[in-house]
Amino acid sequence: MNVSSVGLGKLGLCSAACFASKGHHVIGVDSNGRHVDALRDGQCPIDETGLPALLARCRHNMEFTTNYGHAVRDSDITLITVPTPSDATGRFSNTDLEAVLDRIAPALRAKSMFHVVGVVSTVMPGTCERVFKPRLEKLTGKLCGRDFGLLYNPEFVALGSVVSDFLHPDLLLIGASDGRSARIARELYSTVVESNPCYALMGLTNAEITKLSLNCYVTMKISFANELAAICEKIPGADVDVVTTAIGADVRVGRKYLKGGLGFGGPCFPRDNLAFQRCAEDAGTCAHLSPRVVEVNVEIVNRLCAMIRGHAEPGSTVALLGLSYKPGTHVVEESQPVMVAEKLLDAGYVVRMHDPKALESAAEVLQGRGIYCNCPYDAASNASVVVMLTPWPEYNRLDIHRLEERAGSLPLLIDCWRIYRNAPFRKFTYRAFGTAVQPSGRNVYDSLASILHPDDRRRAPVLERPPVQHPALT
Ligand SMILES: NC(=O)c1ccc[n+]([C@@H]2O[C@H](COP(=O)([O-])OP(=O)(O)OC[C@H]3O[C@@H](n4cnc5c(N)ncnc54)[C@H](O)[C@@H]3O)[C@@H](O)[C@H]2O)c1
Repeated sequence: MNVSSVGLGKLGLCSAACFASKGHHVIGVDSNGRHVDALRDGQCPIDETGLPALLARCRHNMEFTTNYGHAVRDSDITLITVPTPSDATGRFSNTDLEAVLDRIAPALRAKSMFHVVGVVSTVMPGTCERVFKPRLEKLTGKLCGRDFGLLYNPEFVALGSVVSDFLHPDLLLIGASDGRSARIARELYSTVVESNPCYALMGLTNAEITKLSLNCYVTMKISFANELAAICEKIPGADVDVVTTAIGADVRVGRKYLKGGLGFGGPCFPRDNLAFQRCAEDAGTCAHLSPRVVEVNVEIVNRLCAMIRGHAEPGSTVALLGLSYKPGTHVVEESQPVMVAEKLLDAGYVVRMHDPKALESAAEVLQGRGIYCNCPYDAASNASVVVMLTPWPEYNRLDIHRLEERAGSLPLLIDCWRIYRNAPFRKFTYRAFGTAVQPSGRNVYDSLASILHPDDRRRAPVLERPPVQHPALT
């Protein structure tokens, strides 16, 4: 199929490359001329796992342009993935999307063949039906559903794994103005995905609601696990991982996004939550759960800062390991680690920070305040408190004794994700989110409970143990 992809950013460029890698011819359009020039020059201007290699493999199927007319004329379907930032009220702004519709409309008007326009960007429910469809019909003089088709087909991908998530979806959500457009979209996606997803075909408005509510549901799971972690921390013998592993094994709940730790951040989850609340208000009703989910999320940063204050006075050094909102990305938008850094700096702490990718973007948000270190051991230098914030895989391999040696006297290690729970500490006092149990005090049955989960069975040392049934899981 000939595909045009408008907006070649973090999501649009990845999806364009995925289509091209499966043999489709892709015309990539972006309003940023320098971005287009860089792509034409063979560069990969987006930092995303696997993208440079994928682009290198499929460039022969791709062209990059700022010409919207050519993109529409010479493709069967135009997918639009431009920013929809939150406006002052928390609703998504359509400014960039409407600018694209205005630019593609002349070619759409002139085209005699049926053409599909797909909106991928996140929008407020009702937007395609009430705003985009009438706008395109007016600009082209054509009838939506007969002369051209309109789709709302968002992606469920996470930064750091966009390419892999795009190729292996659980769910393909296709909202369509008509059956013909839905069939074209399904045919296109079925040639690209490497998983066996559920195709959810529906009308435009239901698809918009589905996208928003799915993201909000996931944040509700995250906040539930985090609230549970805060409770477990206060109950001697409790361990949030043991509890969530068991809860997650029930198919009604599921294991993903159910790990107590830091809260959610990034460019999508926080603003989707707010937009969900506005959507309810616009519909004349009220979203009661969503504001509570955000409250729980905000409280985590306060709880962590209180833990730090309880151990070290302002003026002392705190080392923060991890700044991005999640591993695998440099993005620090709504990142809880950066919020912690900001609060500590405001309170007068010396903040030393490390992140494998996000130092530069964090320095921008923090306006250069604090000390930015290229290695985690350097960040720990003279620290009274070391905090493990973003669970980057490289932090699993840290030499804990080296970290202790660099830290100040009587240092505290706060481990938001419990990755060092079994480390043989010599100097650190250890506190983990979600458990009141010290590493040596873990109940033998608890450790057996966690190894019974299929994912954990892959860990080699655990496999050597004889299989023991945990009473709570039988
Ligand atoms: N990044 C993600 O993981 C993700 C996940 C789900 C949904 N989304 C949604 O996808 C949309 C895009 O997100 P993103 O992260 O890729 O944004 P981005 O900022 O990384 O990229 C947007 C691109 O669109 C281009 N652009 C802006 N206006 C344009 C115009 N008028 N014509 C052509 N190009 C234009 C920009 O130059 C930029 O290259 C947003 O609505 C976002 O909510 C993103």
